[in-house]
Amino acid sequence: MLFDGPAIHKRLDEMAVQITTDYANSEVTVIAILTGSLMFMSDLLRRIPLPLKLDCLSVDSYHGKAQSSGEVTFEQLDVLDVAGRDVLILDDILDTGRTLAAVRTKLAMAKPRSIRVCVLLNKRKRRAIELVADYIGFEIDDEFIVGYGLDFMQRYRNLPYVGVLKKELLEQPNR
Ligand code: IMP
Ligand code: MG
Repeated sequence: MLFDGPAIHKRLDEMAVQITTDYANSEVTVIAILTGSLMFMSDLLRRIPLPLKLDCLSVDSYHGKAQSSGEVTFEQLDVLDVAGRDVLILDDILDTGRTLAAVRTKLAMAKPRSIRVCVLLNKRKRRAIELVADYIGFEIDDEFIVGYGLDFMQRYRNLPYVGVLKKELLEQPNR
């Protein structure tokens, strides 16, 4: 275990205060990246007492495999209507940066007023594309993490805490 439920919730309280302060004068459009950000999104947004819009994007870079292919595909083909809006992208984890860079580029095409990025976890050492998150829950080392929305082969998302996947499971994925 890396972060238990109470530790996550305490950190979300702090992040929500920061985000509420920063967006006090504008109606933010939150774009959550599914599926990993589900728990993070629902716990964080309930702590933000501002009017806001919420939309979700389904993005995949694992394509059913145990490791990211690096190629990011979108389920929706249309660009979301965020012209002139202040956009806050939410994701579970910033790893190589490819997913968030692709989402950011796609959203930028719709000409929003601003785009910021908020992640629960940041694996700084793994970055392949330069991308700096504006809000970060926790910094972590280069380990494969599961729980609280994060999966390995679609499993463990429902754990109420964040933990490191056992090495033997990573090497021999059991379908
Ligand atoms: P990136 O494109 O390499 O930054 O990876 C982002 C996506 O890969 C995240 O949204 C996660 O879905 C997934 N991912 C990256 N690292 C982990 C991990 O340690 N555990 C579970 N999923 C991960
Ligand atoms: Mg994901």
